[in-house]
Amino acid sequence: MKEIYIIGTSGFASEVTEYILDNGDYKIKGYFDISEIEYKKYSYQAPFLGNEREFNFTSNDNVVIAIADYQLRNKIYLELKSKGVNFPNIFHKSCLITSSSTIEESSIICPFVTLTSNVKIGKNFQANIYSYIAHDCIIGDNVTFAPAVKCNGNVVIEDNVYIGTGVIIHQGKSNKPLKIGKGSVIAAGSVVTKSVEVGKVMFGNPAIEFTKENIKRRS
Ligand SMILES: CC(C)(COP(=O)(O)OP(=O)(O)OC[C@H]1O[C@@H](n2cnc3c(N)ncnc32)[C@H](O)[C@@H]1OP(=O)(O)O)[C@@H](O)C(=O)NCCC(=O)NCCS
Repeated sequence: MKEIYIIGTSGFASEVTEYILDNGDYKIKGYFDISEIEYKKYSYQAPFLGNEREFNFTSNDNVVIAIADYQLRNKIYLELKSKGVNFPNIFHKSCLITSSSTIEESSIICPFVTLTSNVKIGKNFQANIYSYIAHDCIIGDNVTFAPAVKCNGNVVIEDNVYIGTGVIIHQGKSNKPLKIGKGSVIAAGSVVTKSVEVGKVMFGNPAIEFTKENIKRRS
């Protein structure tokens, strides 16, 4: 059986562990983190191996980064990539990824996620449980979907975007996609009805900018 290392030991890593074991295609070789505190909380069956920066990986070792924070995820990815490490995708067996859709490496697709048709996704993507992405969407690198994100057709999501739990993203048009700009954050429960500028934090239904005044106005 193929072997894999997991980077991260917290809640999401514990979930990814279950998905890998459930798929049955990798034996987990060990876990990396900056401290052993979270590792001790879970009954992991493979050893704690310390900080991945101090580990002597051999080229083609398989690694999955089970960390939701995109900045940390990308930093670790770039560091280990330069050492020749392999980043296979982890797709839970219950997800649906159609043959017309593509996903680059180092991505995690959790149980019951659906990619419908002609979806293009970059590297280091994470889609948490029950999310869907509909036809013709284009998703950049290091994008994170929390659980149950509903991303409708003709949407473009640029690099480094975080979409919170239960967000609904309206459909765009084929000649004018709904675009979510680089580095944006969409708060849990929001409904995104129009394009979002680069670097914005948005919330609510319909989603508006996450400022003190707007939060007061909506509460
Ligand atoms: C948008 C977000 C990143 C902002 O986080 P934050 O800056 O720490 O904000 P806070 O939690 O301090 O909240 C600040 C205010 O915004 C309000 N607020 C926070 N999130 C909100 C949301 N999703 N919708 C509406 N209001 C929200 C809070 O009630 C608070 O209001 P108050 O000032 O009147 O008390 C965060 O709320 C969020 O949605 N994260 C995603 C959570 C998620 O889906 N996790 C998935 C785990 S797998």
